[in-house]
Amino acid sequence: MTDRIAEHYERLARADDDHWAYDPDHVRRFAQAMADTLRLIRTDTIADVGCGTGLYTRRLCEYVEPERPVLCVDPVAAMLERLPALPGLRPLHASAEDLASGRVALPDDRALDAVVMKEAIHHVADRRATLEGLVGLLSPHGRILVVMLPRTIHHPLFRAAHERFRELQPEPGEIADLVSAAGLRASVSYRTFHVAIERERYIRMLESRYMSVLGEFSEDELQAGIDQFRHAYRDPVLRFDDHFAFVKGWVPPR
Ligand SMILES: C[S@@+](CC[C@H](N)C(=O)[O-])C[C@H]1O[C@@H](n2cnc3c(N)ncnc32)[C@H](O)[C@@H]1O
Repeated sequence: MTDRIAEHYERLARADDDHWAYDPDHVRRFAQAMADTLRLIRTDTIADVGCGTGLYTRRLCEYVEPERPVLCVDPVAAMLERLPALPGLRPLHASAEDLASGRVALPDDRALDAVVMKEAIHHVADRRATLEGLVGLLSPHGRILVVMLPRTIHHPLFRAAHERFRELQPEPGEIADLVSAAGLRASVSYRTFHVAIERERYIRMLESRYMSVLGEFSEDELQAGIDQFRHAYRDPVLRFDDHFAFVKGWVPPR
């Protein structure tokens, strides 16, 4: 993880507001979609890699009620500090690469039945080695779910942010190829979540650089982008479709 990304998430963790937390229904529906895709069951040992503040992990845990705590893995301590202190959530300060390479060991050396990685794969530099390493941590009925935005998104960002996002974001198909190169069966499907958000709230989210791509811009560039946004979006409530790719991998049956 680069220093810039670490600083970005430290800053975001200090913001008092988890941006999507204002819509608990959205978070619950999203967490359920992930759990259903992975067909999670109570006996699964589950890890959420790049869990952030655990906003979605917590809902997933409430839905599945796993017997063992969900391992909440994130390299940014400030993010993990905001993880709710619940018996169902067990923090682990590590990056995906740390876990994949064995630099940080799994607690109790227990293989994982399911790995969730939501909106973090774009931060991993060596995706091939990291996915291969994570696959190596799976049990014989292990599954992995990489949730990611496609390159083209409908968030009401300004033009330069859309362009930069397209440059930085990997293709879901590439990730599926890496998952299958690591020895799993792989599939890609898409889920759409309808978002309605007050314009003023969204402006605050832009100002706080709620997406890491916004960290690519200087203060002046960001302000110019927000001016462009104010001009283009006038409705008091913004509505857009948030499409997510669900890249799933599973250990092939013998
Ligand atoms: C966009 S946030 C997503 C957080 C959470 N999964 C969610 O959807 O609310 C990205 C998270 O990935 C973490 N991250 C950054 N680099 C990472 C890496 N190399 N391995 C694992 N997580 C990473 C960040 O600290 C941050 O918490």
